[in-house]
Amino acid sequence: MKAVVFDRFGEPSEVLGVREVPDPTPGPGEVLVRMIASPINPSDLLVTRGLYGKLPTLPATPGFEGVGIVEKAGPGVLGRFVVGKRVVAINDRGGNWAEKAVINARQARPVPDDLPDEQVASFFVNPATVVALVRHVLRVPRGAWLAQSAAGSSLGRMIIKLGKADGFKTINVVRRAAAVAELKALGGDAVIASENGPIVDQIRAIVGNDGVRYALDPVGGDVGTAMFDSLAADGRLVVYGTLSGEPIRIDSRRMIAGKRVVEGFWLGHWAKTRSIPQMLLLFREITQLIRAGVLATEPGEAFPLDRIQDAARAAEVVGRRGKVLLNIGAH
Ligand SMILES: NC(=O)c1ccc[n+]([C@@H]2O[C@H](COP(=O)([O-])OP(=O)(O)OC[C@H]3O[C@@H](n4cnc5c(N)ncnc54)[C@H](OP(=O)(O)O)[C@@H]3O)[C@@H](O)[C@H]2O)c1
Repeated sequence: MKAVVFDRFGEPSEVLGVREVPDPTPGPGEVLVRMIASPINPSDLLVTRGLYGKLPTLPATPGFEGVGIVEKAGPGVLGRFVVGKRVVAINDRGGNWAEKAVINARQARPVPDDLPDEQVASFFVNPATVVALVRHVLRVPRGAWLAQSAAGSSLGRMIIKLGKADGFKTINVVRRAAAVAELKALGGDAVIASENGPIVDQIRAIVGNDGVRYALDPVGGDVGTAMFDSLAADGRLVVYGTLSGEPIRIDSRRMIAGKRVVEGFWLGHWAKTRSIPQMLLLFREITQLIRAGVLATEPGEAFPLDRIQDAARAAEVVGRRGKVLLNIGAH
């Protein structure tokens, strides 16, 4: 079968290539999935660069999520129930950018037929993170302000739409003024561009000098620092990404005096704290919210596996629209 493989960590457009490799064999409790499509998420590119929290042994194949058909089950009961079904293929070891992937049978979740492949391909990583951050970790109440940076990301757009559905208000920070009108049209209650002036001043002009109680940051560096500095007393900032690659600087006096909290979030860790019934409920919740358009992923450019280097470049173009997808096989 064909698979995207890299032998050394580095720039995705340089180190990723397509190779013929043997079909993998599912072991006990595992299934073999014939892949239909898989998105290019920032976490896949962080793995390729050797910058992710958990790294594979090389050579390796990236790809944490996707959609496919279960072809075969290894020994064990669970896998037999999903053979022949179209599933969300969650692959926490990575490896979905291939014609076939072996995943844990528990992480092959059948999905209703009405969800199109490109939505099922991006069913888990961003939608589950949005639900977890907003409804479980921060528990943003109706009427409250939630400030978020990199608001134009696929995930940021879902948060804007969840704000409308759940009744909280969003302050959306973007780096380019050109993105402001579009996010307002999407439902952002306030949208500010860091190129238009200090983020802290712009946020205080909206919510007052006390600041915001709830904030999210996937950027770090000066942006993450400004998100912390925008917190009200008793405010919480959840850091869930490292898009700038730079650390956040915390003013410790501000943190102590106002009991402000900064905490990290990683979906892989969070999911392990959920029971099987809780995960089933989460899947139902995500299905309904995708159907309602709230957690739907805007599709971007699609590439075949052979064009992995072009796809990796396209995924990081500034101002890109939609999620870049690898079209791997027929439905
Ligand atoms: N912790 C977790 O478990 C978890 C789970 C899911 C996702 N995430 C993280 O969530 C973030 C968003 O993911 P996604 O799939 O929605 O991403 P995406 O669709 O690829 O969007 C990336 C966005 O980030 C913006 N951006 C990139 N670099 C930036 C920088 N240095 N400063 C400011 N903005 C920057 C881009 O802005 P332009 O529009 O200006 O190009 C774009 O809007 C990523 O950091 C990802 O790793 C974390």
